Amino acid sequence: MTKELGLGLLGFGTVGGGVVAGLQKNAVLIAQRTGMRLALRKVADLDWDRDRGVALDRALLTKDAMEAVADPGVDIVIELMGGMDAARKVIAGALSLGKPVVTANKALLAEHGEELFGLAARHGTNIFFEASVGGGIPLIRSLREGLVSNRILRLCGILNGTCNYILTRMEQKHLPFDRVLREAQAAGYAEADPSLDIDGTDTAHKAVILASLAYGFHVPMDSVATEGIRGLNKVDIEYAADLGYRIKMLAIIKDIDNSVEIRVSPTLIPVHHVMASVQGVFNAVIINCDGVGDVLCYGRGAGRDSTASAVLSDVVDAARDIVSNSKRRAPGFVPFRQDGRIRGISEARVRCYLRLSLLDKPGVFGQIGTVLGKHGISIASLLQKETATGHHAPVVIITHHAGEGAFQAAIREIDSMSVVGAPTVRFRIEDFE
Ligand code: NDP
Ligand code: HSE
Repeated sequence: MTKELGLGLLGFGTVGGGVVAGLQKNAVLIAQRTGMRLALRKVADLDWDRDRGVALDRALLTKDAMEAVADPGVDIVIELMGGMDAARKVIAGALSLGKPVVTANKALLAEHGEELFGLAARHGTNIFFEASVGGGIPLIRSLREGLVSNRILRLCGILNGTCNYILTRMEQKHLPFDRVLREAQAAGYAEADPSLDIDGTDTAHKAVILASLAYGFHVPMDSVATEGIRGLNKVDIEYAADLGYRIKMLAIIKDIDNSVEIRVSPTLIPVHHVMASVQGVFNAVIINCDGVGDVLCYGRGAGRDSTASAVLSDVVDAARDIVSNSKRRAPGFVPFRQDGRIRGISEARVRCYLRLSLLDKPGVFGQIGTVLGKHGISIASLLQKETATGHHAPVVIITHHAGEGAFQAAIREIDSMSVVGAPTVRFRIEDFE
């Protein structure tokens, strides 16, 4: 017998519209597959008039998200409003009523996950957040269930669709940064405040969620060394290509001697590596495990229908738990480590791309080599484009591995030298070894 579950949707925007469209398109298929009918009972949004490209019975609409949460016909709450305070309040309200919550709000989970997962546990209910990382890729479920018997050694991910879209379009079509950002916004990929995307914060939110799940303790946001792609100069994309690399916005999370290194930055990766072929809005994560080895997860990382697919998979999970009377069958987050430790970024061993602006005259390379050598940094290759003698010329250096702290100190010293014409540009290199 088909069982009907009531849904309360909070936020009828890009992803909310996709959820309504997905339900309308595939409700019968979902019912056939699961034996459950998912019925929208309330939809909360501030603006009822904007066209979402999908028809909705206006009798379902309210402007008061709390009214939707409290509606007795609502069994599962779907939070797709985004933002912090209002979303935190309605999620806490739903959990306090024992209602499971499905959310795509990575910012909220990264900042307030500890409080919200604790609240869910105390009220015997659950939070589902498949759409919070990797858009439509079934990534959270893979970590939480498919890989549950594995120790996670390393995760490397392209986790922001907007950044990957911008980098791809800048490289392939030689378009300026601002124009491709506007394209990403129009496509519904970017956050309401796109600086979250381009300054790396959104990738850091997602990295925090993945690291917390993988290592069993709440990883704080301020432990992520974060750099964004704002102001990225296309000459670096071109020099990187000349040297056999592509620039990708990467999150790197590693377990080193039982402590977690976590960093986010535009990073050079070898052009022949599978991650270099991830283009446009697509995301990919390589999860390196002690049992299965490398697992690659790939798919659309942002956008209406792909994200809605992940949301609806969570809704089905929550509905199954209600029907089987087992709301915490697979808890959203299990804190299994009390002694979790974060490694400071200065402890990282990295390889780098350095673009220096150097006066083109005898002896200058020697001075730079001396500074790098003094900090234990060894040069692997070097590229200089020809300019008129006596001017500042761009010089690109690829290094061997050295300490992150050594790079920071060496660059400070180099940038104070009189032969240097502009601040040194630095990107880390990831070889996936
Ligand atoms: P949108 O801005 O398109 O949609 C949010 C909707 O919620 C808007 O219609 C907004 O109304 C409404 N809203 C905001 N505050 C309230 C409130 N207090 N009560 C009722 N409605 C409210 O955002 P997205 O759909 O793009 O994103 C939603 C969430 O999903 C965010 O957390 C985002 O980070 C996440 N996400 C988004 C992805 C994407 O590709 N877009 C992918 C993965 C996750 P109004 O516009 O009138 O203010
Ligand atoms: N703004 C985000 C991105 C949405 O571009 O990846 C998906 O989380």
